[in-house]
Amino acid sequence: MMRPSYLQRRDQLTTYFDQTAAKAWQALTSTDPVNRIRRTVRAGRNEMRRTLLDWLPDDMSGQTLLDAGCGTGALSIEAALRGADVVGIDVAANLIDVARERSAEVYAPGNIDFRVGDMLEDAPAEVDYIVAMDSLIHYEADDVLKVVSEYTSRARQAVLFTSAPWTPLLGAMHFVGRLLPRQDHRAPSIVPLKTRQLMNGIDESVGDNGWHAARTARINSGFYISQASGVLR
Ligand SMILES: C[S@@+](CC[C@H](N)C(=O)[O-])C[C@H]1O[C@@H](n2cnc3c(N)ncnc32)[C@H](O)[C@@H]1O
Repeated sequence: MMRPSYLQRRDQLTTYFDQTAAKAWQALTSTDPVNRIRRTVRAGRNEMRRTLLDWLPDDMSGQTLLDAGCGTGALSIEAALRGADVVGIDVAANLIDVARERSAEVYAPGNIDFRVGDMLEDAPAEVDYIVAMDSLIHYEADDVLKVVSEYTSRARQAVLFTSAPWTPLLGAMHFVGRLLPRQDHRAPSIVPLKTRQLMNGIDESVGDNGWHAARTARINSGFYISQASGVLR
């Protein structure tokens, strides 16, 4: 049973990624020219994807991976190129359409099943790896903890995810944003989280089940800042 804060945020994100920002997101995740700010974001996201992929085996033949909040499917495609059978799930149907088109242009030994749905409710009950790249960054800390804990009961090997790291600037922006009357913000806010607190929370919640928060890496590229975390058995 998901918390109301999760469901409310998911609705906002569905509208945003499926409608408001669908075209911009499609452009950002392509190789089409984008402005200078977005170039830094694209570079940072490419580096983040490489970091997460570095934490996965080079040969994933016979293994399964859930790409949670897969967007236009870049990580799903990379995992399938390594031989993994992938389920890519996203609430934004328009982005799933793009993911299907892009994957159809690539020959990959692994299969990809792109689905429109919720990253928890519609996710497979059992896979080897779960990766949630930049799809939890808009959720409150308790919701992130709940998703990651739930994922440890579904993954056999590892759960990798990213969060927005708390910095004085991001923390202040988030605090001020909460004080202001709600405006028609185009982008749902990002929730900065303190990495150590998050990792401790994960250890407390799933440590008894043999999982531990094992590694983190921060990617900082112009207007993109994100923290990768790996939870392992
Ligand atoms: C910042 S984008 C990242 C997309 C992709 N992981 C990538 O790195 O290119 C976040 C994605 O998470 C999806 N998302 C957010 N909450 C979700 C949920 N509860 N279930 C499924 N998808 C979700 C959004 O629709 C969006 O496509």
